[in-house]
Parts: sequence; C-alpha cells; structure tokens
Amino acid sequence: MVDVLKLGGSLLTDKTTPETIDEARLAEVAEVIAATDDCDLVLIHGGGSFGHPAAERHGMSPTAGTTNVSAVKDVTRAMRRFNDRVVDALQSVGIPAVGTQPFSCCRRTASGQLEVCAEPVKGQSEIGFLPVLHGDAIIDARAGATILSGDELAVELARSLGADRIGFCTGVPGVLDATNEVIPRIDSMEAVETVLTGTEGTDVTGGMAGKVELLLESSMPCAIFGPAELPAYLGGEFPGTRIGD
Ligand code: IPE
Repeated sequence: MVDVLKLGGSLLTDKTTPETIDEARLAEVAEVIAATDDCDLVLIHGGGSFGHPAAERHGMSPTAGTTNVSAVKDVTRAMRRFNDRVVDALQSVGIPAVGTQPFSCCRRTASGQLEVCAEPVKGQSEIGFLPVLHGDAIIDARAGATILSGDELAVELARSLGADRIGFCTGVPGVLDATNEVIPRIDSMEAVETVLTGTEGTDVTGGMAGKVELLLESSMPCAIFGPAELPAYLGGEFPGTRIGD
C-alpha cells in the first residue's frame, strides 16, 4: 500500500518565529513513524516558519512568481535547511529517510498544470528508502518561479505514484466546525465553506479550506488529523476528518 503523508509546517515548526523547529514534536513524529509497518510511506512536509517567511519576503505564492534568482535561492535554501533537519531526525531513530527537492523534479506548465517527475521517488521506495519531499519554489512557465505547497505536491505525487490514500497531519485534530468540534466526514465544499478560516502566522498557500478543496479533488480516500492520531492513521484508520470516499 502506497501512503502519502503530509506533515504540516505548523506541526513541526513554531510559525510565529522564523526557522524554529518544534524539536519535541519532530522527535515524537519520528518515533511514531519508526514504530509503523507502513513500508511504502512517502513523506512530505510543509514550509512552516522556514518556507513561508522566505516566500513572503519575495512576494511569492502559488500564483505570484519571480525571476530573481537570489529570491529562488532564498526559498529553496530555507526549505533545504528544514528538510535536512527532518531527514536527520528520522535517520536518528533508524528510518532510512532521504530528502528530495521538488525544485529539481517539479514544474508548472504555461497552463498552470503541475508536473511531477515521480521516478526518483519510486526508485527510492523500491530500494527501501523513505522519500521525504516538501513544499518548495518551483519553475513556473507563467511566472519564473512560484511556490508549490506540500499539500498540492502530496495530491499530485499520490496520483503519479498510484497511491492508496493521502493523510494530512496538521497542528489541529481535524477540520473544525464553528464550535471547534472535529467534523468527522466531508463530502463537499459547500457543506463546510462557512466554518473554514485561515491559520495563524504567515501562510502564503491557502490554509484549511485549500486543503479540503484539494483533497476533495483528489478522488482518493484522505484524512486530516492531528499528531495524537498519527499512530491510528499509520495503522490504517482514517482519524480526524475523513475526506471523500
Ligand atoms: C509551503 O508549503 C512551501 C513554501 C512556502 C516554500 P505548505 O503550504 O505545504 O506549508 P505549511 O504546511 O502550510 O507550512
């Protein structure tokens, strides 16, 4: 079973302080992943307090791009620093994690279509490595380089890999309603539009509403859940909010 798991940037970092890892949380997540039998796991992490401030500094978003090469370096290096820390934490508990940079294997075409070269990721899984990708700046035929969110990458990569399901582990226990209760299941955007609001801190890529919309479009079984539910998800359940079938 191929399982694409996105770890939210706000889960692993303090989004209010630039380039700050939540070390305890990262160690806890690494331990949970080390204890799972899910051998075809592909991990993706978000930008958190590494990618979002860098993207914002240069006015970059999924649609606003730049041809300024030092801006591209600024974002890709920040994300590389974050990815190195995640890979180090995973390797330190015995997980054969390897980092892969989306800048080198993804692009957007003139029509805005995201193209992902999944072959290197497939190869990594085939030899027993655990691929760890992330949100990044990528080449965009419309605008130089734009931001690719880990959410969008997770959905497209899952499609390319023929994945069985997608999980988004976030800083909250699921999609919350107006009284902060987890909504157990979402089948359409209309049903939840009024209760979805943005997250705290700097976020250039769309918050919870964007996640739900992307996952609904993926036509794959998906779940959005918090860190406490990660063992249940890796055990095959759909904790938190289940999206789609
Ligand atoms: C953002 O990725 C990537 C950059 C800003 C470079 P995400 O949108 O997936 O990040 P999080 O999970 O919200 O932090």
